[in-house]
Amino acid sequence: MRYIRTTRLLNHPTIWLLRPCNGDGQKAMIGANLVRQERRIMKTQVAIIGAGPAGLLLGHLLRAEGIDTVIVERAAPDYVLGRIRAGVLERTTTDLMDQLGLGARMHAEGLPHDGFHLADGERLIRIDVAALTGKQVMVYGQTEITRDLMEAAPERGLEIIYDAGDVALHDVDSDAPYLTYSKDGTTHRIDAQFLCGCDGFHGPSRKAIPASVATAYEKVYPFGWLGILADVPPCNHELIYANHERGFALASMRSETRSRYYVQVALDEKVEDWSDDRLWDELAIRLGPEAAAHMVRGPALEKSIAPLRSFVFEPMRHGRLMLAGDSAHIVPPTGAKGLNLAASDVHYLSQALIGYFRRRDADGVAGYSAKALARVWKAERFSWQLTRLMHRFPDSDAFDRRMQVADLDYIASSVAAQTTIAENYVGLPL
Ligand code: APR
Ligand code: PHB
Repeated sequence: MRYIRTTRLLNHPTIWLLRPCNGDGQKAMIGANLVRQERRIMKTQVAIIGAGPAGLLLGHLLRAEGIDTVIVERAAPDYVLGRIRAGVLERTTTDLMDQLGLGARMHAEGLPHDGFHLADGERLIRIDVAALTGKQVMVYGQTEITRDLMEAAPERGLEIIYDAGDVALHDVDSDAPYLTYSKDGTTHRIDAQFLCGCDGFHGPSRKAIPASVATAYEKVYPFGWLGILADVPPCNHELIYANHERGFALASMRSETRSRYYVQVALDEKVEDWSDDRLWDELAIRLGPEAAAHMVRGPALEKSIAPLRSFVFEPMRHGRLMLAGDSAHIVPPTGAKGLNLAASDVHYLSQALIGYFRRRDADGVAGYSAKALARVWKAERFSWQLTRLMHRFPDSDAFDRRMQVADLDYIASSVAAQTTIAENYVGLPL
């Protein structure tokens, strides 16, 4: 069906109300039925699918350069803010927030950390990130980053359409891609010069790239992480990643008064089988006596099990569709690279699109996938290696365990090994 423009909506330069028309451009019909069939069409330079951290950061970076950008998000704002994810930011990520002028709350409430610990039984190996790299990491929840970006959107002219159903991408390898979605009983269409898929692992964007031109690499781990969030002070002022014979454990935090802990569990474990007491007891064993002595227990604000996966999708661009963040890759949470990797994708992608719209330079767009993937694979490597080092795999044998011990011995005694870990943990340069 073709459409003709009838009304300019809300004085918005790019939103038009469309009415179905017949072949010679006449209005097909007028009346109540017509109203139900109306489509709204919007034109923009960049349409982003997904208002998670990747989509929001990208939207802000583009708006800061005056590029027309609209974000279409399936969920409601409260749902987006309700997700609890990792909370360690690389310097590259905090720099992006600062570049946008949105880092004030992060600096006021976040906790800069100089290092973290690897525990193996009774041994505690400190990785002095600040001394080894000259940089710190920032402990600041992803939820808070998302909130800061969401709240700043209206004043910066970044339009976010929440509760958008049935988002579909069309003609992504043409010069005129568009997306459609439904909201309030109406079908909407957004014509854009570029579509950016920031819709996470399960979103539709990656699926819009034909399998014939793509390769997916995947490793699924034979365990998950059971996480607990509680309003209790952390047991240690820095994070502890522990490899214990009963399995991995992590002591992390969100603030001086809110702690986040995890234990490795089998994939068939159920959250209901883990009372708060059982979980605190397990953490105390796995994190070791020193941490246990300082652990304050409290009721769980949140308790959930997440599976672990390594996943990379190549390429990250097809025609005028670009992927960023979890839509293109997943890392296991060991090392907290998920959000940071989304931020580095978005840095490259915003540079490419700014080059295109400001300087008519298409090279950045053409080179985006290769540039982003080079960094993605290094973060995948680090997350996979730290996962292998710190977890007990159900199918591992005595030799595998000796390898872990030898690795940890080497790390404990070698500044070179510690530097390798520190520079990856703090974030490789862009
Ligand atoms: N239509 C529109 N939006 C969608 C659709 C869809 N069909 N499917 C998913 N989305 C939205 C989700 O509701 C979510 O808000 O896309 C967003 C994707 O956000 P994340 O899953 O957080 O992915 P990303 O922004 O890439 O985040 C990167 O942050 O959330 C973590 O684990 C993630 O650490 C990773 C990092
Ligand atoms: C967290 O605080 O949730 C967290 C921290 C570090 C990780 C993973 C998760 O590696």
